[in-house]
Amino acid sequence: MNIRSENTEDIAAVRQVNIAAFDRENEADLVDRLRGISPSFSLVAVESDRVVGHIFFSPVIVEGECFNKQILGLGPLAVLPEYQRQGIGSQLVRESLKECARSGFHAAVVLGHPNFYPRFGFVPASSKNLKCEYDVPDEVFMVLELETGILQDCSGIVKYRSEFSLCA
Ligand SMILES: CC(C)(COP(=O)(O)OP(=O)(O)OC[C@H]1O[C@@H](n2cnc3c(N)ncnc32)[C@H](O)[C@@H]1OP(=O)(O)O)[C@@H](O)C(=O)NCCC(=O)NCCS
Repeated sequence: MNIRSENTEDIAAVRQVNIAAFDRENEADLVDRLRGISPSFSLVAVESDRVVGHIFFSPVIVEGECFNKQILGLGPLAVLPEYQRQGIGSQLVRESLKECARSGFHAAVVLGHPNFYPRFGFVPASSKNLKCEYDVPDEVFMVLELETGILQDCSGIVKYRSEFSLCA
């Protein structure tokens, strides 16, 4: 299994992975809306020339105190149902976070399963004084510092790109 950046030839397959994983088109449409914004990351997991997993990152901003910090929002993350529970999602998260750190980003947030993301070091964002713009349970909005202590002077409301508001 190979993890690499998405290229234009992957676009249709990435769409199919998101539709199959979420069993709806919302996340696939979201990726199509976000693709091309800068900065963003789109990585694929490829098995025998087939795209079987996908992860996307887009920039978020903190309304409040968070001077000069570059923060990315992880999501969507999707693995084809028949390839789930084989470690592909975890590998996508680990590799992409390394890439985000290498590219100079300071932190990543995620709105997701509270039993999945803590294994990568994510903690409830509330513990770093960050709150989600959406009304969600505390434990599902998480943050990971890519540089230890980088968020110590931050606090406020994390806002995703406006494209997310159409993804209910
Ligand atoms: C979540 C997802 C990306 C994980 O990918 P994966 O390749 O199956 O993940 P891995 O094999 O690396 O890890 C499996 C772990 O994922 C967790 N997991 C998988 N699906 C889950 C779900 N629907 N709810 C909660 N946890 C889930 C399990 O805790 C499992 O942990 P375990 O091994 O201790 O049982 C994949 O299941 C998927 O595409 N799901 C549908 C779309 C989705 O919900 N995306 C994430 C949005 S936050």
